[in-house]
Amino acid sequence: MSIITLADDYIIRLVKEQDLSFILDIFNECVLDQSTLLYYETVTLDYIKEWYQLCHSKGYPAIVICNKITDQPIAYAYLTSAYPYPVFNLTTMLAIYISSAHRRRGLGRVLVSELLNMAKEQKFKNVIASTNTASVKLFESFKFQYCGKMEYWAYNFGRFIDGLTFQYIIQETNVQNQERPTFEPFQEESYKFIN
Ligand SMILES: CC(C)(COP(=O)(O)OP(=O)(O)OC[C@H]1O[C@@H](n2cnc3c(N)ncnc32)[C@H](O)[C@@H]1OP(=O)(O)O)[C@@H](O)C(=O)NCCC(=O)NCCS
Repeated sequence: MSIITLADDYIIRLVKEQDLSFILDIFNECVLDQSTLLYYETVTLDYIKEWYQLCHSKGYPAIVICNKITDQPIAYAYLTSAYPYPVFNLTTMLAIYISSAHRRRGLGRVLVSELLNMAKEQKFKNVIASTNTASVKLFESFKFQYCGKMEYWAYNFGRFIDGLTFQYIIQETNVQNQERPTFEPFQEESYKFIN
């Protein structure tokens, strides 16, 4: 697994309540510039609060990269449930959002690297990334395997969009002889950030 280091101007940490309005701005910027295709319209702060509570209650990590001086988030990322059924306990999906002014500075690589480390700590076997264009090379650089294209995956902004799925298999996770492997919630207190 690649380890990538963060530049001096930034810090990486877990999301706090006070970050949510910045996360709202980052996400809505991605909705408006069409780099995320999930929604037709911008979302509200209540939506982001709900997302954050869900991460916590379900035991998934959510992280931010902040400006070192202001402590203001300019990027965030998280792991989440890929499919809501117990047999998929060992599969997780990642998501990354970076404010446009801070893209192409290596922050995407730092976030993927950290999320893969977190997924390894949580003993997931499989990390899924679904995307359309910009992040393809990012995932490929971490040796995510290309699983295929789903045509007509989504419809947004007046057109159909194809979806590309990638997966990263965590070799270290071994659950042989366990009939029903349990989900291991993210351990905030003991997690050691790479950066
Ligand atoms: C996709 C995204 C996360 C990339 O983050 P980033 O910080 O700009 O990425 P990095 O600077 O770490 O770049 C890593 C590599 O990814 C590729 N890449 C990143 N942005 C790209 C773009 N717009 N077009 C083509 N390749 C791109 C490049 O190969 C890049 O390496 P290089 O700069 O050495 O050529 C960012 O553009 C973003 O937040 N987009 C909006 C939301 C989104 O699409 N999320 C991904 C799906 S979950």
